[in-house]
Amino acid sequence: MTRDTNVPDMTQRIALITGGAGGIGSEAARWLARNGRAVAVADLDGATSDNVAAGIRAEGGRAMGVVMDVTEGSSVEAAVAAVEAELGPIEVLVNAVGWDRMHPFLDTDEEFWHEIIDINYVGMLRCNKAVAKGMTERGWGRIVNVASDAGRVGSSLEGVYSGAKGGVIAFSKTLARELAKKGVTVNVVCPGPTDTALLAEFGQTMPDGGKKLVSSLSRAIPMGRIAVPADVAPAIGFFASDEAGFVTGQTLSVSGGLTMA
Ligand SMILES: NC(=O)c1ccc[n+]([C@@H]2O[C@H](COP(=O)([O-])OP(=O)(O)OC[C@H]3O[C@@H](n4cnc5c(N)ncnc54)[C@H](O)[C@@H]3O)[C@@H](O)[C@H]2O)c1
Repeated sequence: MTRDTNVPDMTQRIALITGGAGGIGSEAARWLARNGRAVAVADLDGATSDNVAAGIRAEGGRAMGVVMDVTEGSSVEAAVAAVEAELGPIEVLVNAVGWDRMHPFLDTDEEFWHEIIDINYVGMLRCNKAVAKGMTERGWGRIVNVASDAGRVGSSLEGVYSGAKGGVIAFSKTLARELAKKGVTVNVVCPGPTDTALLAEFGQTMPDGGKKLVSSLSRAIPMGRIAVPADVAPAIGFFASDEAGFVTGQTLSVSGGLTMA
């Protein structure tokens, strides 16, 4: 394969993974590190971020943990500055922060709406804004925003989250258009139900700990099981790769066939 010689050294690009202490984010960080990226593991949960980064270093990778609260612009900017000072300019951004609780829409209030939208949508905007300018100045970048199939096809009891994730998809397509001639791609990965803390926390609010939820989801999924983070990480890795440079504005579901259109 012929590589573009106009771009800088490709051997160790710098990747920032937000939500990097979580199930999907930490697996994405490990995947990227195994595939030659230096990774910054950013999360509200700084101790777990540090542990994820230490695990990557123990396997021979280059990694740092950093505290970041995506609901605070100053926190996002401080974390980006810390990463760039330690590792170098951020060339790959993976936004894997997400949060939700299951409620019938009619039982929700504005405080809950704002919380969901701030974490899942505005937080993603803050992170895109904080790194995309540098990427365009350098003429190279990969942004992967993690949305959800809820944002494509809806999900009962997740109305506000579905709307926020639909917003992530629509925004990403627009940013992809705006940055297309500047060497920066923007794509979206939509996990289906995935075995992480987020799903487990839904279960904790149910009398059976969420067993029925997982078994009914598994029955609905053509492959007969919910995802694990290792199913999702390679899709993120593909969009983050040098080789995916002609792919932008795309949305890829990783759902065992649950969503196909
Ligand atoms: N697990 C699923 O079934 C599922 C399905 C579809 C989409 N997703 C999406 O995948 C992504 C990863 O979710 P996950 O399942 O790994 O969940 P997770 O709960 O394991 O990880 C989410 C991480 O985000 C961090 N976080 C939360 N609020 C934050 C904030 N304000 N600032 C910084 N970090 C914050 C948490 O500390 C946590 O480490 C999310 O965008 C989620 O919406 C998950």
